Amino acid sequence: MKLRTIENLDVRGKYILLRDDFNVQIVDGRITDAFRIEQSMPTIRALQAGGARIAICAHLGRPKGVRNMEYSLSPIAEYMKIPLIGDCLDKDFMQNMRDGDVVLLENVRFYPGEENNDPEFARSLADGFDIFVNDAFAVSHRAHASTVGVAEILPSYAGKLLASEIEHLNAVMENPKRPLLSIVAGSKVSTKIGVLKALAKLSDKLIIGGALGTTFNYALGGKVGNSLYEADQKDTALEILEYARENNCEVLLPLDKGVAKEFRADAVRSNKDFTEIEDDDVIIDAGEKTTERDVAAIRAAATVIWNGTVGMAEWQPTWSYGSFAIARAIAEQTRAGKLESIVGGGDTVAALEACGVKGDITYVSTGGGAFLEFIEGRILPGIAVLEQ
Ligand code: 3PG
Repeated sequence: MKLRTIENLDVRGKYILLRDDFNVQIVDGRITDAFRIEQSMPTIRALQAGGARIAICAHLGRPKGVRNMEYSLSPIAEYMKIPLIGDCLDKDFMQNMRDGDVVLLENVRFYPGEENNDPEFARSLADGFDIFVNDAFAVSHRAHASTVGVAEILPSYAGKLLASEIEHLNAVMENPKRPLLSIVAGSKVSTKIGVLKALAKLSDKLIIGGALGTTFNYALGGKVGNSLYEADQKDTALEILEYARENNCEVLLPLDKGVAKEFRADAVRSNKDFTEIEDDDVIIDAGEKTTERDVAAIRAAATVIWNGTVGMAEWQPTWSYGSFAIARAIAEQTRAGKLESIVGGGDTVAALEACGVKGDITYVSTGGGAFLEFIEGRILPGIAVLEQ
């Protein structure tokens, strides 16, 4: 896959519509994790240095095509110290722009035409701009007006972040150092079937954890109590296990779990094997034996791909035990130069951040759904449109 990039592009005095993914968590008007914004800065700075006039287009949440100020990008404009243009279709600000100026356009999802990739809306959005740059890897799996529609209208290029995501993810998928261990967790089998199969084919070992792992344990006849799992995914789980066997991938399922009588951050934790789980037990984290085994698997690997926390990592310290142990083991091995590590997904990256090891990972992706779809080998429409 060869993309048109902004390398050597003459942008001086040009009006650039730059798509970024600033879909970050905001609590009480404050950004709790600015990772996606920070990762977007190299492209913004490069375009500024080249003398471009930049309007950043972004979304926040899912306002469903309605102007709902709960989803305003104003905390992001404040954080970046740039002006917010209150309507993404407004063009008046352009007359006052000088080379190197940057503004942020208000949430593009305030218009229904965005998610419908309405051609008329895409034309209005592109109007007045000379060039489109997509740096929003994390939303490139959506065929929206601001990812695909405008790219079909304007000369369009990949930004530095988008190019770097593709380069790193391709490298690990095409030529991983072996043994390759993948760790997939999270809540739903139904949303991860594709990625589980792709990773079962690619990896030497596959750890399936979290509620996802619980569904697999259930499929094999294990006790799951009152926990989150998907009974209707039993056959799919068995099919994935068979597929892994056919592809010589060893699957490691949870051996034991951290459980409580209530699904609460301050609930009392006990550790139970699957055979001991009672009907009123709720699984909230990986157990001690499972964690020990997972850490050993990480120490034996040359490459790790990780997506999905194995428990409620945000309920620290009681329920972050399993996820933090994985994060620390991956970080330790990577720091020691023994491991290449690739981590993606909002909760997973937040867990790395919470235990202070994000900087140790070889590559941290800004993508959630996009990361999974890319690994699955799907064609991401926002990227396909930038191919040479
Ligand atoms: C993300 O946060 O993964 C992207 O911004 C995509 O958001 P969406 O799932 O609401 O399209």
